[in-house]
Amino acid sequence: MKKLVLPCVIALITISCSPRQAKTASHPKVDSLMRVMTLEEKIGQTVLFTSDWSVTGPSMRDNYLEDIRAGRCGNLLNAYTADFTREIQRIAVEETRLGIPILFGYDVIHGFRTIFPINLGMSASWDIEAIQESARIAASEAAAAGLHWTYSPMCDISVEPRWGRISEGSGEDPYLGSLIAAAMVRGYQGDDLSADHTLLSCVKHFAAYGAPQAGRDYNTVDMSERWLREFYLPPYKAAVDAGALSVMASFNELDGIPAHANAHLMNEILREEWGFQGFVVSDYTGIMEMIHHGYAEDLADAGRLSINAGVDMDMMSSSYMDHMKELVESGKVSMETLDNAVRRILNLKAALGLFEDPYRYCNPEREKARTLTPENKAFARSFAAESMVLLKNSGVLPLRKGEVVAVTGPLAQSKDDFLGSWRGAGQVESVPVSIQEAVGEVTPLSAGASKVILVAGEPWHWTGEAASRSSIRLPEEQTQLLKKLKKEGKTVVLVLLNGRPLDLSEESELADAILEAWYPGTMGGYAVADVLFGDVNPSGKLPVTFPRNLGQVPIYYYAKNTGRPYVHPDAKYESRYLDVPNEPLYAFGHGLSYTTFDYSEIMLEGGHSQSGQGVTLSGDGTLKACVTVTNTGACEGTETVQLYIRDLVGSVTRPVKQLKGFERITLAPGESRIVEFTLDKETLSFWRQDMSWGPESGDFQIFIGGASNQVKKASFKYAL
Ligand code: BGC
Repeated sequence: MKKLVLPCVIALITISCSPRQAKTASHPKVDSLMRVMTLEEKIGQTVLFTSDWSVTGPSMRDNYLEDIRAGRCGNLLNAYTADFTREIQRIAVEETRLGIPILFGYDVIHGFRTIFPINLGMSASWDIEAIQESARIAASEAAAAGLHWTYSPMCDISVEPRWGRISEGSGEDPYLGSLIAAAMVRGYQGDDLSADHTLLSCVKHFAAYGAPQAGRDYNTVDMSERWLREFYLPPYKAAVDAGALSVMASFNELDGIPAHANAHLMNEILREEWGFQGFVVSDYTGIMEMIHHGYAEDLADAGRLSINAGVDMDMMSSSYMDHMKELVESGKVSMETLDNAVRRILNLKAALGLFEDPYRYCNPEREKARTLTPENKAFARSFAAESMVLLKNSGVLPLRKGEVVAVTGPLAQSKDDFLGSWRGAGQVESVPVSIQEAVGEVTPLSAGASKVILVAGEPWHWTGEAASRSSIRLPEEQTQLLKKLKKEGKTVVLVLLNGRPLDLSEESELADAILEAWYPGTMGGYAVADVLFGDVNPSGKLPVTFPRNLGQVPIYYYAKNTGRPYVHPDAKYESRYLDVPNEPLYAFGHGLSYTTFDYSEIMLEGGHSQSGQGVTLSGDGTLKACVTVTNTGACEGTETVQLYIRDLVGSVTRPVKQLKGFERITLAPGESRIVEFTLDKETLSFWRQDMSWGPESGDFQIFIGGASNQVKKASFKYAL
């Protein structure tokens, strides 16, 4: 078919809006296209199919190339490499009437070719700059392989360890999660979407997908609007505020309405409140699934509900492709609603520079030059080491180079498990060494050694999508192996590869040291050895609570106090368990080092003091909270100093602690540093009883320390 050449219109921005949808500004090229597109061509731009290259869900279309050629499909996921995408792009550009380029999307989640630790591990680094850098590298590798769009960051807060996808997120905390979400967006998108090394970021899964009942993937989510706004929405919003221009709807329902038809979420919160200007894509067959939810009568009905609720693009349901025409012609979907969706999608194609050069991202030389470079691997190694959390150490770590150790356990020789789920285009062949090999490079190995490194955990496919577990214990044979080694009198260092908080109650009693290594990525073997032998002093801190057992779940540090807090050891009618303490095994923010840090008492500066009243922060003022942190051990170490607050009385009850700041500092032995945090009314704000956002006057506590349960405490007042 002949390509229609369109006149280039300059600098004309049109605004269109329907009552429920935010204004959508158009790129001039998009306006000119919109004027000549047929209804079918418009619908084609709202359709997203998978290629047969890589599959991330059930495949429903055999001949996606025919769909592209016919203008029925304007977007493709799971196709990559410069050569493959170039050929598909050629079909779209040369063989369709309007030559509109394809948008290529992929799950670049924790690296593309060079794989970094899984996202839960990244979060454990609390190193926002490193997280951003990992996204930048991922984008540069992926963009050179023909990709334009990544389905990341995953912003789903979760306190549900049974849920396999907890591994893909940043853990339980909205503050940490927000900083990470924004950093990832900045890393992917850079400051120029049209550059050949950046990707369009897609914020997912909107919203509250991380709270499925009973931890079963895709299961029902129900929570109050207040809880949603306070604990679940902030990371999505932070990502949107950081400039993310696409959002993916989530599989779950919320308040009885599937997210894919939830106009409150997409049109009201996302577009009207947050001013989001990009497009919303469905999750994989998410539109069709509303039939199973019992919310849509059939596929046509599902499409009607979705697009009217603000979902612009249909991933894999074929609902828009097969039914949008009849929906528009019958008036069930207005032309304006469809136009808005199409315009939003085309605007992003324009912003990516695809109309200027549809092949900009398909360059085999660049692909080769940018992939798995020594710099990328060096970064992956140091980042992986930074993500690891030393949960326990009775003094056995660090090991001495040259000493004789044994390396054993079901995952000791594995490379595959390092990559975790959503490994992008990471290949096991590109993982240089297993833990056994890496340790073997630094020290003599002997099966009979008295010190044993036991590499255990979960095989990688036990986490990720559709990988919920009803138990969060290690497989029984692993615990038995640990018991056997201890019976034989061995000193055991337990190295864990896993992607969820585990119940380690038994293992924590038995093992002499426990290193949580997550799934550490391409350079994971070396990174584990770096930490075990002290080349890297561990500094990771848990971004999620590790319970004593599943019965404590959900357990998170920002709990409410309740009307009967457990304070008296033998009390019966207080909020407690009969069989385990209320406290978790390892608290949020916990993580040991090979050195130790001492914290001074908290000094408050600023605000004003009234005799006998303590310090008061007023109105728009600021208050400084300072501690002196000293490295009291024998080696250099990095500490993440954490700030929490508590609002003692509120118009709605407040959590016993909320993270409001942190700083990573590196101190030489004996060195001290003053760490200073600034508090203002924003730090104290929350969704008040009338659902307005702001602070309330009253008493506050402030906590600073190296873990949520290891803190110094001070008090102040706030006066509006
Ligand atoms: C997942 C998304 C992913 C999409 C595309 C879905 O099954 O829920 O997170 O981005 O597939 O692969």
